[in-house]
Amino acid sequence: MRIELKAVSKIFSDGNRALDNITYREDFNALAIIGPSGGGKSTLLRILGGLIEPTSGEVALNGKKICYDEKHLIQYRRKIGFVFQSKGLFNHLTARQNIILPLVNVHGYTKAGAGTTADNLLERFGLFRDRHKYPHELSGGQQQRVAIARAVAVKPKLLLLDEPTSALDPELTSEVLDMLNELRNEGLNFILVTHEMGFAKKACDKLMFIVNGRLAEYGDSEKLFTSPETEELAGFLSKVLEWNV
Ligand SMILES: Nc1ncnc2c1ncn2[C@@H]1O[C@H](COP(=O)(O)OP(=O)(O)O)[C@@H](O)[C@H]1O
Ligand SMILES: [Mg+2]
Repeated sequence: MRIELKAVSKIFSDGNRALDNITYREDFNALAIIGPSGGGKSTLLRILGGLIEPTSGEVALNGKKICYDEKHLIQYRRKIGFVFQSKGLFNHLTARQNIILPLVNVHGYTKAGAGTTADNLLERFGLFRDRHKYPHELSGGQQQRVAIARAVAVKPKLLLLDEPTSALDPELTSEVLDMLNELRNEGLNFILVTHEMGFAKKACDKLMFIVNGRLAEYGDSEKLFTSPETEELAGFLSKVLEWNV
């Protein structure tokens, strides 16, 4: 998939400049966005997902410009899957119902068709036994796997994930990352904001490093981790990797 950002800036109504003139053009399968907290990663992801509009600049996916008017956005968002840090599931619905609801309400599936789709996904990702559990009865890792299963149920062109494992224990993190890796191997494209540097390096082909709203460095993921060009990225990596074995 090709992504093109042309001079994208976002200034919030309080005057906060969250993104400052980001220009980027790349073909990717899995794109990782890393950088210090408050740098603008989530803001960029929300712009890519059509949840908020850039103050200026243009965004295109596979050569198609995103139109930020409500009518087009409703269409556009249907083709994109989203997974957030946590609390993405409806608490009053079971795992199975969480997958079924948007299929019926947003995507026009029949109840029976949505049920079959949900069961196939739950089976496939090892969640079938837990299908009638409510989110509070599932582990954090299971909740995120349900959220990802829900997001990929309609076979989106692109999946956007904002720190999907940041609230999880390490062993639960790896079950979520394994699932993502499997989906990537099947050809799903995703853009992932993450602090999981091992995953960004090994499972993502491209990397964006965002600092204070600027695109400070970008390129092939493996290469950037091995030989960062800027002091900023080198410093960031040495800090986040300091206690890694
Ligand atoms: N809705 C908003 N209104 C005002 N400022 C915001 C809003 N959302 C984010 N920001 C600010 O924009 C900057 C970037 O935030 P964010 O994109 O969440 O960073 P990151 O995801 O990299 O931690 C921060 O200074 C944040 O406080
Ligand atoms: Mg964020």
